[in-house]
Amino acid sequence: MQAVQILRFGGPEVLEYGEAAIPVMDSNQVLVRIRACGVNPIDTKIRRGLGFVAEKIKDRLPWIPGYDLSGVVERVGGQVTEFKAGDEVFGMIGFPERGGAYAECAIVNTNEIVLKPVNLDHARAAAVPLAALTAWQAVHKTANVQKDMRVMVLAAAGGVGHFAVQFAKLAGAYVTGTASARNGEFIIGTLGCYEFINYASFPCSGVIPVMDVIIDAVGGEAAIQALPLLKKDGVMVTLPTVTASQVIAAAQAMDLTTKGMVVKPDIIDLQTIAGLLADHLVQVHVEQRYPLSDAIKAHEHIEKGHVRGKIVLAVD
Ligand SMILES: NC(=O)c1ccc[n+]([C@@H]2O[C@H](COP(=O)([O-])OP(=O)(O)OC[C@H]3O[C@@H](n4cnc5c(N)ncnc54)[C@H](OP(=O)(O)O)[C@@H]3O)[C@@H](O)[C@H]2O)c1
Repeated sequence: MQAVQILRFGGPEVLEYGEAAIPVMDSNQVLVRIRACGVNPIDTKIRRGLGFVAEKIKDRLPWIPGYDLSGVVERVGGQVTEFKAGDEVFGMIGFPERGGAYAECAIVNTNEIVLKPVNLDHARAAAVPLAALTAWQAVHKTANVQKDMRVMVLAAAGGVGHFAVQFAKLAGAYVTGTASARNGEFIIGTLGCYEFINYASFPCSGVIPVMDVIIDAVGGEAAIQALPLLKKDGVMVTLPTVTASQVIAAAQAMDLTTKGMVVKPDIIDLQTIAGLLADHLVQVHVEQRYPLSDAIKAHEHIEKGHVRGKIVLAVD
């Protein structure tokens, strides 16, 4: 099969498109022919050799990146009863150490995929799993957002942020989103935020701590500058793992609560999200599609840090 592999850590140029072996399938696994795969910031961090996943895989290169896929079941193992050849599926696979979605085919476990909503094409379905699962788990499991809460989402226009806004809204919260000016209309008009804050106006002076929850998809100084908006009994969920300890320490110094978290593959959560997408209660925004062979361009794009929604790789 054709795949994109990392042969060594480094810049986007280390992504090599070419022939790779299809992994061996167990009797309880499924072979998926991939139609599209999602691109996430973690893919670029691993490619650079940063973080806990790079540490685990550093002696196992070459490695095929990618956790998000949408495609068609080609073959099922003898023990598989949940899927059959021809099923259209999507999911988050191989997280964190196996990866494998930047390819024409992947061997997946049956608890990693669910049936794709028919109203989503493969590109939009591939944009969903990791970002939406992160947002879902941050909003519902780590922050426990409830009706009428004030929730702020830092980077509301991004991959995780645009889902977090919609999930918090569905829970009945009043959602404030931060982004640059070009995303103001997207955040208010398309996502339905109650309030938009241009992050260029941070740090705000003399702010009143009105937020019950802050979902931080930016990290570092941007997260720390938002802390004065958090109520004393509120909680910030900080997602970028690289800066989590810095943000948590700053919050503790202000007697505030900040929690880090790492997304977990969870088939029940993914089923729930698939249902919301199928019922048109949640939408996924794809800013750009690249062919799989242009993974380098996709990484250069996402590393600029200004994607609206998601970018995906389309597999012919
Ligand atoms: N812990 C976990 O399990 C987990 C899971 C998923 C993601 N993450 C991490 O969470 C972060 C976000 O992921 P993502 O997929 O949502 O990234 P993303 O889609 O690449 O984020 C891009 C968005 O960030 C916005 N942005 C950039 N600087 C900003 C600032 N200072 N304030 C507000 N918005 C800003 C951009 O808006 P403008 O264009 O308007 O600037 C853009 O829409 C990444 O660090 C990622 O690694 C962690």
